[in-house]
Amino acid sequence: MKLKIAVLPGDGIGPEVTAQAQKCLTAVADIFGHEFSFKKAAVGAVAIEKSDTPLPRETLDLCYDSDAVLFGAIGDPKYDNNPNAKIRPEQGLLELRQKLGLFCNIRPVKIFPTLIDKSPLKKKVIKGTDFVIYRELTGGIYFGEKKLSSDGTRASDLCVYTEEEISRISHLAFKAAKSRRNKLTLVDKANVLESSRLWRKVVSRIAESYPEVTVNYLYIDNAAMQLILNPGQFDVILTGNMFGDILSDEGGVIGGSIGLLPSASVGEKHALFEPIHGSYPQAKGKDIANPIASILSGAMLLDHYGLDEESRAVVISVLKAMKKGIVTQDLNPEQHYGTQYVGDFIADNINDTDEHLIL
Ligand code: IPM
Ligand code: MN
Repeated sequence: MKLKIAVLPGDGIGPEVTAQAQKCLTAVADIFGHEFSFKKAAVGAVAIEKSDTPLPRETLDLCYDSDAVLFGAIGDPKYDNNPNAKIRPEQGLLELRQKLGLFCNIRPVKIFPTLIDKSPLKKKVIKGTDFVIYRELTGGIYFGEKKLSSDGTRASDLCVYTEEEISRISHLAFKAAKSRRNKLTLVDKANVLESSRLWRKVVSRIAESYPEVTVNYLYIDNAAMQLILNPGQFDVILTGNMFGDILSDEGGVIGGSIGLLPSASVGEKHALFEPIHGSYPQAKGKDIANPIASILSGAMLLDHYGLDEESRAVVISVLKAMKKGIVTQDLNPEQHYGTQYVGDFIADNINDTDEHLIL
């Protein structure tokens, strides 16, 4: 298969981790006889430095013209806690999601058996955790009207959802539930928010078309608690933009490191793959960032194009690295395996032999 992949490394540790994911995808292409081409473009703070905008026109055009986007991370401390910053790196990612129509963000959370001791939660609580968050990505409070009064003393962000926006992601989430354990949990704040009540109405109507899927409803505050008390109860979590953002970081903790969680953002025409972690500026250039979330995002890219065996080969290689303790210091503080070392190990161990099955 031929795939044109736009690589947007972004800020902080983004370039280091996407380099490892690209290395693994290149290994897959070599082993399985595919043709993947990679083109790089600037986004985020690095793009602001260069061209005064977090999403330059040529970056957007490259993404429009590619089959998939491999995204690193975005954000720079220079812009944090600076309420006067007019342009922010994050705007680049938000605009990209909107322009590419990436309304559905898929964030799987799984416990890797060999890392079960790394979790801050008890083994018996997290054992068997395997759920996926379907986060709406181009609506809600992130994209509603923003206002600041002229005297700067009053600010507002509007949370808007339409039936159409709720319905298109809900169908994808129900289909995912059907192919998994037939359970869907809608997370909202319907006891307070009108937009959440619309989510409930639309989701309960759509549920009638998926009779095999059991649906339940949780308020976000309770969901945040349940995720820590008993994460094994979840299969597919469907939620809006901001609740999904918050719950997915919480999900990251369950597995022992946020550096493990990949994501796919999909729309009608385009798809983008990125780790759920941020730019982690303190680790930039130190060769300590965990590349696994980015590498697994690459595996999700392969899956998206129906390259199941290839995707599985990447995952198996990641599992092999974990089993051998070849992981970065967030997971193995005694050893000093660097980002590149771990990336090399995983890329070098992607092969299509039956060795997979041993794990
Ligand atoms: C994420 C990030 C982004 C978000 C930021 C960088 C805008 O936290 O992808 O989870 O809030 O969506
Ligand atoms: Mn986030």
